[in-house]
Amino acid sequence: MDSNLLEKLRSIVGDAHVLSQERVQERATHFWDSTPLTAKALVRPANTEETSAVLKACHEVGQQIVTHGGVTGLVGGNLSTENEIVLSLERQRGVESLDPVGRTVTVQAGTVLQEVQMAASNAGLQLGLDLGARGSCTIGGNLATNAGGLSVLRYGMTREQVLGLEVVLADGTIVSSMNSMMKNNAGYDLKHLFIGSEGTLGIITRVVLRLRAATPHVHTALLACEKFSDVASTLSSLDTALNGTLDAFEVIWQPFYRLNTQADRDDTARAPLSRDYPLYAIVEMKSAADVSWDSGLESALEKTMEQGFVVDATVAKSQQERANIWHIREHIEIALEHEPVFVYDISLPIADMDSYTRRLQKNVQETWPEAKLYIYGHLADGNLHVLIAPPVEPSISLSKNTQTAQTNKAETSQLIEQWHQKSNELVYEPLQALGGSISAEHGIGLLKKEYLHLSRSDAEIGLMKTLKQTLDPKSILNRGKIIDVS
Ligand code: LAC
Ligand code: ZN
Repeated sequence: MDSNLLEKLRSIVGDAHVLSQERVQERATHFWDSTPLTAKALVRPANTEETSAVLKACHEVGQQIVTHGGVTGLVGGNLSTENEIVLSLERQRGVESLDPVGRTVTVQAGTVLQEVQMAASNAGLQLGLDLGARGSCTIGGNLATNAGGLSVLRYGMTREQVLGLEVVLADGTIVSSMNSMMKNNAGYDLKHLFIGSEGTLGIITRVVLRLRAATPHVHTALLACEKFSDVASTLSSLDTALNGTLDAFEVIWQPFYRLNTQADRDDTARAPLSRDYPLYAIVEMKSAADVSWDSGLESALEKTMEQGFVVDATVAKSQQERANIWHIREHIEIALEHEPVFVYDISLPIADMDSYTRRLQKNVQETWPEAKLYIYGHLADGNLHVLIAPPVEPSISLSKNTQTAQTNKAETSQLIEQWHQKSNELVYEPLQALGGSISAEHGIGLLKKEYLHLSRSDAEIGLMKTLKQTLDPKSILNRGKIIDVS
């Protein structure tokens, strides 16, 4: 049956575009994980029609599919097994058209985010979406995960940038909903069903995005504060003073600032401010016109210093200084070098962040006195990223000399799994009472599935299952991601 299906897929997309299991293994599992990719085959259709024919053939025989964009997601949504076929959008790439008057751009789903940003910029416009993975992630993946990123406070999440899309359903039906109107209330707004569905309801193949006026004048500052309430007050104060031009407001707790400004590592940033402050914030203002320095960020900052909210500040005077400041925030690789490290993406009301983070610090320290806890995030969006790295004691990995190294390894990974569970409890449990979310922007995928009920009611999860069963009754699309349907 498999060979018949693969034969059929070859006749649809061409021999060169169905990679066998051996060829699949030449690829990495993930942007950050070089483990060989596991899949029955990898198929790369050239367009929507081929994607539709591939899905129709797979649907007929109940073949499961995992869709790949840039494979930079952080919740295991891309993971596949040897029974699954990976459908990659890598050949469906390119900007099809751009309407500078209506301010829209039409792109294929496999287009890399940065290419879309460049196309907009070349037309004197911009896309209201930007994130660290811009050079690798694809628009299709951005939509599938409803990606957040660095300017959500100004432009909203990916959902807010989408006017229309084309999607292929599990049975191969093409639903072309390529609306380019700002307003269109003619019935259900179907695109929102697929945005944030993480590849479980359909495969997005083309997209119409909304563009905005370009804001080429950029001012960036790094601030230091003594306490959390001062950071929150600074956000309110700057948001009001900057008249809609506040583009980013990122908070960093001291341990993460210190990690990324170590003098003896050349992959870290230079510390533009003393490393002794409890909290830091990166503030960026962007505007269409060159706002005079006095009426811009500098005078707004002076006010926050007079009010005592900000105790130290530096404004980037060159592109290099700006890049250095952002490196402190965007460079998360050093934190990820810890083994193990548990990564979280939570949201909660800004008013509760201080007590939440203090309690977390206390609980983590009580559980693992030597653990590293890094917190930073998109403050204005109520979104924190938390990284917890408990130290593996040498006594654990080297214990019981009489046993084989293999047994020790198994024991260690079992222990790490227990720690992961414990860490999840510490991070997630207080969120429910606060009305927060276990996933602010990365999605649920496989890694957060067990905890979905903490952020969604039974009725909500029930409706998700109904939608999944209706649109994908054989459950061939990214099976087991977000929810399980029987
Ligand atoms: C960030 C990504 C990981 O904000 O969400 O760094
Ligand atoms: Zn983020």
